[in-house]
Amino acid sequence: MLNKIIRLTAGIAIAGVIINAVALDNGLVKTPPMGWNSWNCFGANINEKQIKEVADAMVSSGLKDAGYVYLNLDDNWMAKSRDANDNLRADPDRFPGGMKALGDYIHSKGLKFGIYGDRGTETCYFRDNFKELDTKSGSVGREIKDAKTFASWGVDYLKYDNCLANGATMQKDYEKMRDALANCGRDIVYSICAWEFQPWMPKTGNLWRTTTDILNIWKKTNEWSWGILDIIDLNEPRAPYAKPGAWNDPDMLQIGNYRNGGPNDNEYRSHMSLWCIMAAPLILGNDIRNMKQITREILLNKEVIAINQDSAGIQGTRIKSSNGLDIWCKPLGSKDGTTKAVGLFNRNSNTANITVNFSDIGLSGTVTIRDLWEKKELGVFTGSYTMQVSSHGTNMLMISSQPVTGSIAKPLKTITGFLCRTKMDANSIEIVPSGIGSSYRIALFTPDGRLIYCKNKVAGNLQVKVETRSVYLVSILYENGVAEKKMVAFY
Ligand code: GLA
Repeated sequence: MLNKIIRLTAGIAIAGVIINAVALDNGLVKTPPMGWNSWNCFGANINEKQIKEVADAMVSSGLKDAGYVYLNLDDNWMAKSRDANDNLRADPDRFPGGMKALGDYIHSKGLKFGIYGDRGTETCYFRDNFKELDTKSGSVGREIKDAKTFASWGVDYLKYDNCLANGATMQKDYEKMRDALANCGRDIVYSICAWEFQPWMPKTGNLWRTTTDILNIWKKTNEWSWGILDIIDLNEPRAPYAKPGAWNDPDMLQIGNYRNGGPNDNEYRSHMSLWCIMAAPLILGNDIRNMKQITREILLNKEVIAINQDSAGIQGTRIKSSNGLDIWCKPLGSKDGTTKAVGLFNRNSNTANITVNFSDIGLSGTVTIRDLWEKKELGVFTGSYTMQVSSHGTNMLMISSQPVTGSIAKPLKTITGFLCRTKMDANSIEIVPSGIGSSYRIALFTPDGRLIYCKNKVAGNLQVKVETRSVYLVSILYENGVAEKKMVAFY
């Protein structure tokens, strides 16, 4: 029984028989997975003590609370041979406690445990370093056995690589492991790592690598080394395939791996910004036991993470690009909704102005803009907005137009409980929330429906400057979704 495999409704008729493609629907990672993986910082040099320290650091640094919950071991956790029963086993010197105990430790921290496997005969590291050995570290022909082993260790996530494998059987091999995982008795996220996109991948894995390995460089210098910028451009066209539970994977983050020169902070901030706009998995690749303050700020910006984790799961795209100046847009909430995340990305080597026309992002009328890296409201605007963007930098904006709610023709009356005191001496009104929710978003409209003020995440009373002899519709939306509104006259 394929208990977690569902049939696609669309079938293909061949000689009168309907052949249904099967699709993955395991209910996992409805928003892009977030976590950490050992490869980009430690490569093959991994061991139990260090991985436990990483687990501790995921908690103490606040990464876990920000949503980074998967702790994933990459290549070289295995022994160079299987056990007497042909099962995979951990390297006894570097992981003396074994994988079950390590998984238990990771779970005890409130984290999830990820592991690495390969669809061929040997993992990539073993292929490259132990040519003379037949380690049987790959899972070809042993998919069911290995999936069960992973489940018995408490594995929650499998990255499944593509080394020493038969090119002709790629799809079938990945499907075999998908089906083995579906029947292993445990929910395991399935991450396909085959270095390119194939049309069958969205119905096979929860995520699939769209490119070869990302290096800790901004831009490639030869055909075999891809930088952050190259990967952005390769991943962007795959946007239509992303949706909740199924993600394009432009590879793990390099943010904070400053070694060998590496990218600068602006470039790392663009790395984070564009991974978030592209709804990409956020799998960290730095040594989180020792992070610079700027790295923490980039990785832990909750407003930027929230763009990545938006429940609609829409992969944002580049909607305009000219002379190296890009505008990227990710609709939030729904495709045609009133709030968009916008990235202004400068590919050039000089600071430049970038203008976003609101009509280009599907918004009309008045909008409010918040700068997510600066963490501040920029104000209320109509038509367009121009900003300076540093070389290789990305400004992350949240742009929102809010339709006027309720009829302005109604008499002045309180619809619900909040108070609006007029303060003539200070030319302002004071909003006193009714306390239904802890924080709220507030908007003031003129009677003809113009948005003149908007502020998010307000807690407690708020004073707003207003014009004399004016009438406003005050609209409050609490965190819990309850809305209140009333007309206020200021004479
Ligand atoms: C491949 C993968 C990398 C990493 C290495 C490990 O190159 O694409 O992400 O897992 O193998 O050997």
